[in-house]
Amino acid sequence: MTSGTSRWRVAYQRPIEYEIVNAPGLFELQNEALLSVGKIRGGRRFVVVDGNVARFYGDKIHSYFAHHEIEAKIITFPGGEENKTVDAYLGILYELDSFPIHRRDEPIIAIGGGVLTDVVGFIASSYRRSVPHIKVPTTLMGYIDASVGIKTGINFNGHKNRLGSFEPPLRVFLDRDFLKTLPRRHILNGVCEIIKLAVIKDAGLFSLLEGHGAQSAAINFQDQRGGEILNRAISGMLEELEPNLYEENLARKVDFGHTFSYGLETRHEAHLLHGEAVLLDIVISTLIARGRDLLSEQETCRIFNLIGQLGIVLNTDVLDAGLMWQSLLERVEHRNGYQRVPMPDSLGNCIFINDITYQEIESAVKNLNDWISIKNDPILER
Ligand SMILES: NC(=O)c1ccc[n+]([C@@H]2O[C@H](COP(=O)([O-])OP(=O)(O)OC[C@H]3O[C@@H](n4cnc5c(N)ncnc54)[C@H](O)[C@@H]3O)[C@@H](O)[C@H]2O)c1
Repeated sequence: MTSGTSRWRVAYQRPIEYEIVNAPGLFELQNEALLSVGKIRGGRRFVVVDGNVARFYGDKIHSYFAHHEIEAKIITFPGGEENKTVDAYLGILYELDSFPIHRRDEPIIAIGGGVLTDVVGFIASSYRRSVPHIKVPTTLMGYIDASVGIKTGINFNGHKNRLGSFEPPLRVFLDRDFLKTLPRRHILNGVCEIIKLAVIKDAGLFSLLEGHGAQSAAINFQDQRGGEILNRAISGMLEELEPNLYEENLARKVDFGHTFSYGLETRHEAHLLHGEAVLLDIVISTLIARGRDLLSEQETCRIFNLIGQLGIVLNTDVLDAGLMWQSLLERVEHRNGYQRVPMPDSLGNCIFINDITYQEIESAVKNLNDWISIKNDPILER
């Protein structure tokens, strides 16, 4: 370096590698999967458990750590979107800060749905500028979506996930047994994200859902076909996430169903789940695609029939073209100046479009209601 140097360049690459592991019976005393990462002898763990999960599995989780002589501070946190707040985030941080853990080999453990893993992931990314964490999803939404990627977040200032980070977990453990106690509404909530993947990128998964989705959903995906559907959904999700983990490319297939839903779920947080909002977006997008002749009449019918077969009831009362247009405009900011809306151009494929108009949204909303009344399909009636 000379005294005249006026520019420095820093280039650094950090490899990202983590595994998502099927680990049935994760909290059976003899199951060592959870012990495969981090310090065991004399080790400590800060564990955050969803309130409903604690109700069903709390004793088992406590016994597990006691049996393995790991000093665990186990706190509970209530699920539900209304708890994804700055206050909740700070509350957990105070608990964490009163239970010192090593910075590298005593990972925080998050056991719960997408709300909990998003909040705890954000805590892990900000505490001491990042400490390792492990995710154990207990909802279907978490299992096939929220836990497998690296996004964390909390809601802020009336906006969903306005604060957050990209924070890779140390490992993700999938234990399908947790889904046994998940209420049906939350099973179907996760199914909506599986439908998304099927429509936009995996025609085979779509057929699998047509053939076996309803039966598997009825038994909380505990059968072999259910396992196949979940594994295929996770593989599809990871195929999209892995090459674009930090979302440098803003044209993302997995954003299908996540354009108009943003405004809907923000406005109707109290009674519209994330997946339910996504599915409303999917049907509106499907009708826009149909209006542009990207999808055939038959393909459009297959999408509606699948939703019906799965027993999902569309909450069309919340649809509001003005709100959805505003949501699209907000997403344009998020997607750096372009709509970049994924649209199916056949079942299992998509293109990205940048020129959706207000009129198209309005007419899709109108067509949806027409479709319901014309077809008088009991499945779509509420
Ligand atoms: N980070 C991501 O990439 C990503 C992706 C998709 C969704 N998300 C986020 O996920 C959140 C939604 O997640 P969710 O649908 O899991 O909601 P949630 O975490 O609120 O859980 C839903 C309900 O199920 C209960 N519950 C959890 N596990 C249970 C079990 N095994 N048995 C019985 N009840 C159980 C919870 O207490 C809660 O009442 C949203 O905030 C969304 O933004 C994040």
